[in-house]
Amino acid sequence: MDRFACDVLVVGGGGAGLRAVIAVAETHPKLRVAVISKVYPMRSHTVSAEGGAAAVIKAGDSLDAHAYDTISGGDWLSDQDAVEAFVREAPEEMLRLEHWGCPWSREPDGHIAVRPFGGMKIERTWFAADKTGFHMLHTLFQTTLKYDAIERYDEWFVTKLLVDAGRCQGVVATELATGKIQVITAKAVILCTGGCGKVFPFTTNANIKNGDGMALAYRAGAPLKDMEFVQYHPTGLPFTGILITEAARAEGGWLLNKDGYRFLQDYDLGKPEPKPVLRSMELGPRDRLSQAFVKEQEKGRTLEGPYGHYVHLDLRHLGARVIDTKLPFVRELCLKYQNIDPVKEMIPVRPVVHYMMGGVSTDIHGATPLPGLYAAGEAACVSINGANRLGSNSLTECLVFGARAGEAAAAFAAAQREPGPSVLAQADDEGRRLEEKFRRKTGGHERIATLRAEMHETMEESAGIYRTGATLEKAAEKLQSLQERFGDLALADHSYTFNTELTAALELSYMLDVAEAIVHSALRRRESRGSHQRTDFPARDDAEFLAHSLAYRGADGRPRVEYLPVTITRWPPGKRVYGR
Ligand code: FUM
Repeated sequence: MDRFACDVLVVGGGGAGLRAVIAVAETHPKLRVAVISKVYPMRSHTVSAEGGAAAVIKAGDSLDAHAYDTISGGDWLSDQDAVEAFVREAPEEMLRLEHWGCPWSREPDGHIAVRPFGGMKIERTWFAADKTGFHMLHTLFQTTLKYDAIERYDEWFVTKLLVDAGRCQGVVATELATGKIQVITAKAVILCTGGCGKVFPFTTNANIKNGDGMALAYRAGAPLKDMEFVQYHPTGLPFTGILITEAARAEGGWLLNKDGYRFLQDYDLGKPEPKPVLRSMELGPRDRLSQAFVKEQEKGRTLEGPYGHYVHLDLRHLGARVIDTKLPFVRELCLKYQNIDPVKEMIPVRPVVHYMMGGVSTDIHGATPLPGLYAAGEAACVSINGANRLGSNSLTECLVFGARAGEAAAAFAAAQREPGPSVLAQADDEGRRLEEKFRRKTGGHERIATLRAEMHETMEESAGIYRTGATLEKAAEKLQSLQERFGDLALADHSYTFNTELTAALELSYMLDVAEAIVHSALRRRESRGSHQRTDFPARDDAEFLAHSLAYRGADGRPRVEYLPVTITRWPPGKRVYGR
């Protein structure tokens, strides 16, 4: 085992991670700062974000309007102090990205172009055609290359956070190319590892999104906040789950049921406008649209194919010119993965797990309750997104809270001493655990694929768009038994070079922890709010549940759920109203 040392270590090289590392290098140029990532940074999931990033820029818009849309979209579970900071810093961050070279799409007169997006009542979503994430990540990545102080550990996979004397002081990781177990000590660690969509069977998320950072923090004693809130995006391609961006509806696409009827008009989301308009019903919030899909299915008004029920997204009336200029990637994805041309044919779509509102609990500076440990981006829950995130807030969140976490972690690290020798003893223990429980393990009867498939089935049945106490209870028991069976895993690959079986086993163990946190938090929340819909408790209950859930890992290894009040500054809880 080799030892590496830095002052601030960022885990994850996506949008939040790269923004955080730049913030450290800019604000504290003397600190040693590093990014460790299980994939090369440009392969992080941010690269696949399509539709855009929200920030106030247009005349007629205001910070208060952005804050209100975010808070009502989140069904009043957002912390309003965090939202106010977010909307205030969002335009600065977006302009900064422009100065770093991000090619935002523009109006013919040269102004930044903005499009409407789901749940936003005015156009405020900046975009770079429909490859926004690619361009943002590229811009951030090339900016990191300017700083000599930034080191990278590409394709290193973190297996443990080192905690000593009550603070986080580094990580243990395996270097995937060699299988060597390595230790990196740090005075502060920032988790920017993204979400955990792969806990579910059908998701827009890349295979790398297994809740790694969430599980690492949870095991180290930090709580996971609001894990019951799982976002379904209403338009994924059946089978692959590939995202068909909300931008397709922002440009005027329609959602049609099996009778060719724009069914959203039946669900309090507005009227069927003939032309793309602001606040059109197809641009309602994602939770409502996904719930409407389930209702349509129950009424027998969806279509059925080899990969389940679906409806149609119709873009044909937009014409080839609009599709090729504003939605070229949508056309490419449909041609390549569905063998249809959206200029001439309707696109089959269904709701698909897209985003976790919950994550590692942080304050407004990205600090978790564990000193020295920070988190930002989808891995974190600040919380600005409450019970339902609005489309295009997350890329901006990566920038605003990535920068905040970077600055705060750097200031913390600058005041700390070097980690002591006892973290190295812990690292040795972790090395032994990996060797004995995985690398040199023989025997065992369980297969990774079997346990993963059973976890998927459990999560889909119990923690999907609609939930009930009875199925959640059963799911909690099932997940506990999967955790026990995980101990009897049979591993066939004992090699050291790119041992993908070992990586998959460790990822499965992270997913099982995160899945338990989701199910236990959902079980305890006996109300319906945003993306958490309990058929046995169909109403929102502000008296009891205007509060964040906090899932801690209990002494028995099971989640223990506590609550934390929501911060309300200027917008008391109200009714969510959409449409004209
Ligand atoms: O539909 C989309 O382009 C997704 C955007 C988002 O999740 O923010």
